Amino acid sequence: MKKIIPFVYGLCLTASLAVAAERLTTQVPAGLYMERCRRVLAAMDSSSVLVLRSADSRPRSMDVNYPYRQESNFYYLTGIDQTGGFLLLAPAGVEVGGKKRQVVLFGDMRAGSVYAKKEGLHQTALGCDTLLSSRQFEALFQTAVKGKATLYYSMPQPTFVNDPVANKRFFLDRDVRKELANRYSGLQIKPVNDLIAPLRRIKSPEELALIQRAVDITAAGLIEAYKSLQPGMYEYELQALLEYAYTRNGANGPGFPCIIGSGPNSLVLHYEDNSRRMQSGDVVVLDVGGEFGGYTADITRTMPVSGRFTEAQKELYELVLQAQKETLAIMKPGVPFRAVEEKVQEVTAQGLMKLGLIKDKEQVRRFLPHGVSHHIGLDVHDVGRTDTLQVNMVVTLEPGVYVPAHDAAIPEAYRNVGIRIEDDVWIVAGGHKVLSAAVPKEIKAVEKLMKKTGLGNRSVGQ
Ligand code: GLY
Ligand code: MN
Repeated sequence: MKKIIPFVYGLCLTASLAVAAERLTTQVPAGLYMERCRRVLAAMDSSSVLVLRSADSRPRSMDVNYPYRQESNFYYLTGIDQTGGFLLLAPAGVEVGGKKRQVVLFGDMRAGSVYAKKEGLHQTALGCDTLLSSRQFEALFQTAVKGKATLYYSMPQPTFVNDPVANKRFFLDRDVRKELANRYSGLQIKPVNDLIAPLRRIKSPEELALIQRAVDITAAGLIEAYKSLQPGMYEYELQALLEYAYTRNGANGPGFPCIIGSGPNSLVLHYEDNSRRMQSGDVVVLDVGGEFGGYTADITRTMPVSGRFTEAQKELYELVLQAQKETLAIMKPGVPFRAVEEKVQEVTAQGLMKLGLIKDKEQVRRFLPHGVSHHIGLDVHDVGRTDTLQVNMVVTLEPGVYVPAHDAAIPEAYRNVGIRIEDDVWIVAGGHKVLSAAVPKEIKAVEKLMKKTGLGNRSVGQ
């Protein structure tokens, strides 16, 4: 049993993570957003226009909204984290005050708004040629789109609602497209990601720095979780430690809800209740990521609640780790995503056959039911899956094995155990770098770390 220590407010999770005076998002190089807009413009032809809308605030209940989250493409091209905005890109230019403008931003210009604060800035710092009130959007858009062949436009939020009472499915996005097609005959509507995803999937040095920071913050939280975990804790206590690490170190919060699944919950892929009391003999899967400057990490570790894996858990854990290591070894530019998936499946199948859990490799999908790699960035499942890995992509590698609870053919010691190990991988010339290498995953290192005392070893009132 670990020593219970009093909770010390302000105790630094990692000494190495100095807290910036301001969030790093405010410190991007001047001209960054303008440069991104210029790159999108360069991919458009003169008979097209692109419109992005900021995300709306989303009601939680009555007068309370969910925390605001900007639409990722709008954020990528403007850096603005407030609702009420539009961005219009017009390669042929649209006339504003007697001048042709290609990048026009519209927003709420009342005093105090983010948009109003930008007024008067030089266009490189502003991130556009011109800043106008959102009230002027409609008229200018109509001028810009007149006679054009293509409009790049996607609704900023999920737009499908199934209403069983009305017995009807509503597709807002489809209705908007229909309306646009009626209003501007001959205009073709294309998704904005045709243009923006190719840019977003290759990370710039600024983005890589933000992702590394998000990863480091998440790593600090996971190391604290390793040190604090003990039987009798609730899953949400680990969530609290992670979220403390995020906020304490300047992150905006989680990039996606913490997945903390112990015992039977370790088998549930997107388990988010985090409400179970953990027991000795359980493993707990922590699939977590803090978001820094809009960019999220996505790291998974599987921990033994008692501080020691059982022999059967060790066998499964080593198998997943082996699959991860052998697959990491092939990750470099030019390697197809498919090869990454296949390598994980191949090594996992071999391991499961060796343990006698499957008879032929085709059965591996029973124990590994998900994909093992996706981009991360502004979104945890970031845009832009392509055929091959390329320099400056950042992707996850997350093999797993999930042994069902009720299968008499499987020895009991293996049952009801889910293991997943996930790291964030930066593809570089000739190879890769694991951004999340600071979080231990070798069994020896994990068990050693778990002997230490952590911030979470306290009781209420102590
Ligand atoms: N982090 C959750 C997922 O990748 O699906
Ligand atoms: Mn993931």
